[in-house]
Amino acid sequence: MNRIIELKTEQDTIDLAKEFAGKAKQGDIFALYGELGTGKTFFTQHLCKFLGVDENVSSPSYVLMNEYVGDFHIAHLDFYRLGGVEEVFELGLHDIFESGITIIEWPEIGEEILPENTIRLKFSFDGNNREVKVI
Ligand SMILES: Nc1ncnc2c1ncn2[C@@H]1O[C@H](COP(=O)(O)OP(=O)(O)OP(=O)(O)O)[C@@H](O)[C@H]1O
Ligand SMILES: [Mg+2]
Repeated sequence: MNRIIELKTEQDTIDLAKEFAGKAKQGDIFALYGELGTGKTFFTQHLCKFLGVDENVSSPSYVLMNEYVGDFHIAHLDFYRLGGVEEVFELGLHDIFESGITIIEWPEIGEEILPENTIRLKFSFDGNNREVKVI
């Protein structure tokens, strides 16, 4: 069932990250949709923190993937700069998906490789209101 959550303050996003961290399990894949600045990395930073990551979590826009170790092995990816789905295939994500928790910003170009269990969060911000739709 789809769920729409208003994110009026950063704390609302932090609370949501805490909720998802609390029920996260090995093999979970989070696909984070939304335009620039809608809060995908912000959500990820707090999700990682609640999953026991001590180090600073930064945007993977340029490096494509950052990996962290907390309660799980965590891979944080960003497909923004990829030119096509073949570049997604080259990443060999199957093993990564199985090895822990995967979080993907700008997942659209890799839609066809996302497993059925993917949790989709669609962030939006119209200049006044922020919300996320969980699918
Ligand atoms: N309710 C909120 N939830 C999340 N972020 C918020 C909220 N209110 C303000 N912000 C701010 O909005 C910004 C969101 O930036 P963030 O880097 O997370 O966006 P992004 O979706 O990852 O963008 P990009 O597509 O460039 O990677 C942060 O600076 C954060 O502090
Ligand atoms: Mg980002």
